Amino acid sequence: MVRLLHDKIAIVTGAGHGIGRGHALELAKHGAKVIVNDLGGSVDGGSSGSNRAAENVVGIIRDRGGVAIADFGDVGDEQQVDAMVQRAIDEFGRVDILVNNAGIVRDRAVWNMSVEDFDLVMRVHVRGTWLASRAVARYWRDRAKASEGTVFGRIVNTTSGSGLHGNFGQSNYSAAKSAIVGLTQTLSVELASIGVTANAISPGGRTRLSATRPGAKPVPEADEVEDDVFDPKDPTLSCPVVAWLASEQSQYLSGQVIRAIGENIELLRGWSPEASISNGGSRWDATRLGTLIATDLYRTRAAGLRLGG
Ligand SMILES: NC(=O)c1ccc[n+]([C@@H]2O[C@H](COP(=O)([O-])OP(=O)(O)OC[C@H]3O[C@@H](n4cnc5c(N)ncnc54)[C@H](O)[C@@H]3O)[C@@H](O)[C@H]2O)c1
Repeated sequence: MVRLLHDKIAIVTGAGHGIGRGHALELAKHGAKVIVNDLGGSVDGGSSGSNRAAENVVGIIRDRGGVAIADFGDVGDEQQVDAMVQRAIDEFGRVDILVNNAGIVRDRAVWNMSVEDFDLVMRVHVRGTWLASRAVARYWRDRAKASEGTVFGRIVNTTSGSGLHGNFGQSNYSAAKSAIVGLTQTLSVELASIGVTANAISPGGRTRLSATRPGAKPVPEADEVEDDVFDPKDPTLSCPVVAWLASEQSQYLSGQVIRAIGENIELLRGWSPEASISNGGSRWDATRLGTLIATDLYRTRAAGLRLGG
């Protein structure tokens, strides 16, 4: 088997369960030494559980002949995140890849959502992704300065359909996942000159997180998925995409969002003008805008889209 990540050093956050567990196993399969981060929390971030989840994944990687260590840090905590990155450097001599995956949900319609529900979701997703990205960016920038050149560095962040299109009951989560796209694009711009790329994936799959609906079935973990049976809800389907984004081969791709759900991989296009009207250098008159927008602007939109319902 061709190994895309031979001797690369990778951190995967929230790798104790679900999609992150799949990423950690996939990166290790391709030869990366993996820091398996997970604080072992509950799906809503309300309780910090045991360290067992990260340790289990480390055990699976080692049993398969790979190299991994566990890290139990909270991605929302500055000191713990800096210590996680330092642990990788102390243990393996370098960090090459950061996969920001850790996540929680606290779904409620906006009128029922508490400030705590909002803050905690933002803390894990946005602050966590930013803190870990900052820690590796500082490290890579120092190395690039010392060598007066570029370095190998990859950041892969995690957004979601909720962040890209919105979803009922997820005003906190969709705001956080949307923020991660903006953060990814800024990281790609800021780190380009030192050779580091930053991209985001929009994954899917049946996991603890998506099984919070009443009556949802128990979910298999990444190591329990059967390789020879294709299941469109398999939480590991995006993991090969992450391995490729983490590899030397993806150097030309940065600031992109890739949706990897089921059997498809889609390169998404961000917000860009779909139609426009011009005032020819004078001020707009609000009383005339209704007609202009309904006719001229909407008429120039792609076929199939209609104004209103
Ligand atoms: N499951 C889906 O359908 C889906 C869809 C789109 C995006 N995502 C995203 O994929 C990522 C993984 O979600 P999942 O579905 O595998 O959920 P999951 O609950 O199975 O895994 C998330 C992991 O993150 C860990 N975690 C939570 N808070 C943490 C913190 N502060 N520090 C360190 N670790 C922490 C949890 O302990 C857990 O092991 C999330 O970012 C999620 O938003 C999932």
